[in-house]
Amino acid sequence: MNIVIRYFSGTGNTKFAAEEIQKHYVIQGNAVNCDSIETGTPIGSDTELLLIGGPIYAGNVPEHLIRWVIRNVPDASAGAVAIPFSTSAGLLNAFGVTSLAAKLHKKGYTVPALRTFVMPRNYFFGKYEKMSDDIASQLVEKTRIETAELVANQEILSGADISPEKSTLGIDLLAETMSVMTRFMGKSFSANENCIRCGKCVKNCPKNTIKLDKKLKFGLSCMMCTRCIHGCPVHAIEYGKKRYPQYRLNEIVQWKVNE
Ligand SMILES: Cc1cc2nc3c(=O)[nH]c(=O)nc-3n(C[C@H](O)[C@H](O)[C@H](O)COP(=O)(O)O)c2cc1C
Repeated sequence: MNIVIRYFSGTGNTKFAAEEIQKHYVIQGNAVNCDSIETGTPIGSDTELLLIGGPIYAGNVPEHLIRWVIRNVPDASAGAVAIPFSTSAGLLNAFGVTSLAAKLHKKGYTVPALRTFVMPRNYFFGKYEKMSDDIASQLVEKTRIETAELVANQEILSGADISPEKSTLGIDLLAETMSVMTRFMGKSFSANENCIRCGKCVKNCPKNTIKLDKKLKFGLSCMMCTRCIHGCPVHAIEYGKKRYPQYRLNEIVQWKVNE
C-alpha cells in the first residue's frame, strides 16, 4: 500500500507518534513516506492511505496545519483513506482531529478512524508544570502501544467514514482565534543574557518570526509552538521575562528530535 504521513510538530511529540506509525506500517511491508509539513514534500496523487497529525492547541490542531491541509492535500484518488491524528497533554479532547477529518472528507477521502495520543505536555505556562520523567515515559510507552494497535487494526481501513456530519465551523473559529492570540503572545518571548546568538531558534522557527539582530527579535507571526524555548541549547529564551523548564522528548526516550 502507498502510505503518506504528514505532520506538524512543535516540540517532537507528534513527530514521535508519526514515526512510530511509520515504523509499524514498514514492518508490515508497506512503502511509507513520512515527513514534516515544513519540508514541503508533496503528497502524491496515488496515495492510498494518508495520515495527518498535529498537536492540540486549545482544543484544535493549529490553524497553520489546517491551512496546510486545505492547500496541499490533493483530492483523494479512488478508494483513498485518511486517518487524522493528534498528540495532546490530555487536557482537552480531540476536537481538532474532527476538524481535520472534515477537511479530508471534503477532499474525497474516507475517514474510518481518528486518534489522539496523550503525550508528556510541552506546555508549562499558567498552572501547568513539567511532568515527572516517570509519568512522561509511561505516556510515551502508551503512545508506542496505541500507535502499534492503530496499525495492526486492518479492519479500520475497510471501515465506514466517521467524519463529522455537523459543521466544524465552531472549532475552526477556535483555531483561528488561537492563531490571532498567539501572534500577540509571541511578543512576550525574549532572550536573556545567556543567549549565545547561535541562531538555532531562528533557523527552527516554523513561522520564521524570530530574527537575529543586535539581539533576538520576536515578530508577530508566532504560533506558540514553544520550539524556541525547549530547543535553546543554553535555555536563554523566556516568556514574559520568566524562565520555564525545557521539554525534550529525547531526554525521556532514546529518540532524536528535530535539531
Ligand atoms: C500553545 C499550546 C496550547 C496547548 N493546548 C493544549 C490543550 O488545549 N489541550 C491539551 O491537551 N494539550 C495542549 N497542549 C499540549 C500539546 O498539545 C502537547 O504537548 C503536544 O503533544 C505537543 O506536540 P508537539 O511536540 O508535536 O508540538 C498545548 C501546547 C501548546 C504549546
